[in-house]
Amino acid sequence: MIFVSPFFYLATQISILNPFQNIQGETAWRAPSNIALVKYWGKYGQQLPRNASISFTLKNAFTETAVKYYSKTKADNNIDIQFFFEGKANPKFAEKIHKFLESIVPHFPFLPYLTLEISSQNSFPHSTGIASSASSMAALALCLTTIEEQINGDMLARSFLEKASMIARLGSGSACRSVYPYLAVWGQHDAIQDSSNEYAVPFYEQVHPIFKSFKDAILIVSSDEKSVSSRAGHALMEGNPFADSRYLQAKTHLTTITDCLKHGDLEKFGEIVENEALTLHALMMCSTPSYMLMLPNTLKIIDLIKTFRTEKAVPLYYTLDAGPNVHLLYPVGNAVEVETFIQQALLPYCEQQKVIFDEVGKGPIRLK
Ligand code: PMV
Repeated sequence: MIFVSPFFYLATQISILNPFQNIQGETAWRAPSNIALVKYWGKYGQQLPRNASISFTLKNAFTETAVKYYSKTKADNNIDIQFFFEGKANPKFAEKIHKFLESIVPHFPFLPYLTLEISSQNSFPHSTGIASSASSMAALALCLTTIEEQINGDMLARSFLEKASMIARLGSGSACRSVYPYLAVWGQHDAIQDSSNEYAVPFYEQVHPIFKSFKDAILIVSSDEKSVSSRAGHALMEGNPFADSRYLQAKTHLTTITDCLKHGDLEKFGEIVENEALTLHALMMCSTPSYMLMLPNTLKIIDLIKTFRTEKAVPLYYTLDAGPNVHLLYPVGNAVEVETFIQQALLPYCEQQKVIFDEVGKGPIRLK
């Protein structure tokens, strides 16, 4: 009788069961942040939006993520990662990414069979109050989709970005819009062909050129951490008495703004963008519990923008994320006068005179 060691038996079973042996490789992507023009605020199910949203993809605020991967020597069901942020091990971020990767195993069945070494860095300083979840989740999703492509062979370019967008969405809703150049729409909407709640779609082909080179100067009013996470903010929409009318309003705004974007209607564009920013904050103010996310200097800046626009007849508009910082949106042709105005009139209202000059960008770049 032949005696088979249980360890030998287990090892052969594992190698039989491990379809991802002898795999190794690496990839790296740069993905930008984005700024919503019609906001996503309110979600259901697995990170699905209550209304469709549209955003400008930015250029200078980005995350670069590199992933090295190789088959585990011993396969098990666990996700195995090492995570470095700006060159240093970062256990807090590592735990978040670990959880995220666990949640997407149904979409990437190879994940439990590989060890991943992930390193990530942002172009913008850590404590500026700029949310990095959109750019970081988009960069990671693009890396994972590339790994899938490297393991399984080429996929169609279109379905690659759709899959990356869908995965980014599961990490952070708005991140799904960051995988496309110029502008992207996320959420099912009758006016947008092929739009979906599952992933974003590009929206730039029919867009007037003036919007493809738009500027976004981000005025940092405060770099403090947000008093309410966006997860909690979205959840508050469930009990908000204005939720249903908000979703209807967003629907109408998206129809109108896509029309403005096509025809180069700056004035109407600005009206909607500013209304969206104030509506987002109004929704937070009338939630239970309520949150006031603007600071006195946010209001001062908004007031100065309105006066400047009226007096100088310059198409300068503002928008806000769920925080106190102000995004100034303007055509590149007005950059000199707007940037002089920022330096002369608005800097005193910014924390340590901090401004990040950004603009509409061409989307993610594959680095490796
Ligand atoms: O992607 P989240 O869950 O961080 O939510 C982002 C929400 C807003 O930035 C306020 C609006 C948007 O559409 O980006």
